[in-house]
Amino acid sequence: MEAIRTEALSKTYLKGLRQRKVLALNNLSLTVADGEIFGFLGPNGAGKSTTIKLLCDLIRPTSGRAAILGQDVGRPEARRQIGYLPENPTFYAFLTGWELLEFHGTLHGMHQSLIQEHGKRLLDMLELADAAHRPLRTYSKGMVQRLGIAAALIHDPQVLIFDEPMSGLDPVGRKLVADLMLDMRDRGKVVFFSTHILHDVEVICDRIGIITNGESRFTGTLPDMISESFSSYEVLLRRVSPEQIEALTQKGHNPTSFEDKVKVKVLKGDLVTFLASFMQEGMELISIEPERLGLEDFFIRFVTSAPQD
Ligand SMILES: Nc1ncnc2c1ncn2[C@@H]1O[C@H](COP(=O)(O)OP(=O)(O)O)[C@@H](O)[C@H]1O
Ligand SMILES: [Mg+2]
Repeated sequence: MEAIRTEALSKTYLKGLRQRKVLALNNLSLTVADGEIFGFLGPNGAGKSTTIKLLCDLIRPTSGRAAILGQDVGRPEARRQIGYLPENPTFYAFLTGWELLEFHGTLHGMHQSLIQEHGKRLLDMLELADAAHRPLRTYSKGMVQRLGIAAALIHDPQVLIFDEPMSGLDPVGRKLVADLMLDMRDRGKVVFFSTHILHDVEVICDRIGIITNGESRFTGTLPDMISESFSSYEVLLRRVSPEQIEALTQKGHNPTSFEDKVKVKVLKGDLVTFLASFMQEGMELISIEPERLGLEDFFIRFVTSAPQD
């Protein structure tokens, strides 16, 4: 079954005294399968938190629908299955870590013995056991973040929805949280988390979604993202005359010569035409390779290029 489904989900906020309309999310349709870690990637203000709040039924959509495990998000059955970590979790500073988990467990109607069992396991996993009986005002930002994750998981939910779970964490904390998400997937859970940092999704996500300006730009695997977003080939040639180099320059192929070879850039859609024309002109083809870009470059390309329909 699909763990998460949104259908043409849109949200317009009314902002300020003049009630100016802000289209924060525009027609988002996506599905996340059971047993998947889905990374929701986008720059600040893209609409990630809006999507997450809609999934957790904390705000209502302007249009469209969302469902968790086949149930509309408005239904209590759907909400019971969710473990939600807000963007900047803040808790009562006078509570201890353990008291916070007890409080959350009680809200979920859990038995004291079950709270004990889950709470201990989570505090161990998130390396908070030593701090469990200290008040939260003595916690670092990273510790509060990790405790927020423990609180979100106390009732052993099936669908984990984390808003920027890695923010404020040092490398050790990031690894802890990444390992926890992998562990949850191994136990058959679904993880949907947002981030604006590409590296966060690189290692652990089965699929990613990219959102900019409230619009979905891509959903798929990282290799899919790379193959979809590369835009040109590097073609290596030999036996290129000075006149031909001039012609290649004029056509925008940006030729660079080294030894007896010439490297040119050919746009993805132009490759066939390019090959057909140079073969008649007697140049020798050595190799054709997709341009080499780092992952960051691909992401920047998605974020900065014009929307594709
Ligand atoms: N309560 C709100 N009132 C008005 N505008 C909002 C509100 N919440 C978010 N926005 C606007 O909606 C857009 C998306 O915000 P958000 O979903 O928080 O983005 P992200 O989490 O990707 O950084 C932004 O332009 C933001 O300013
Ligand atoms: Mg956000």
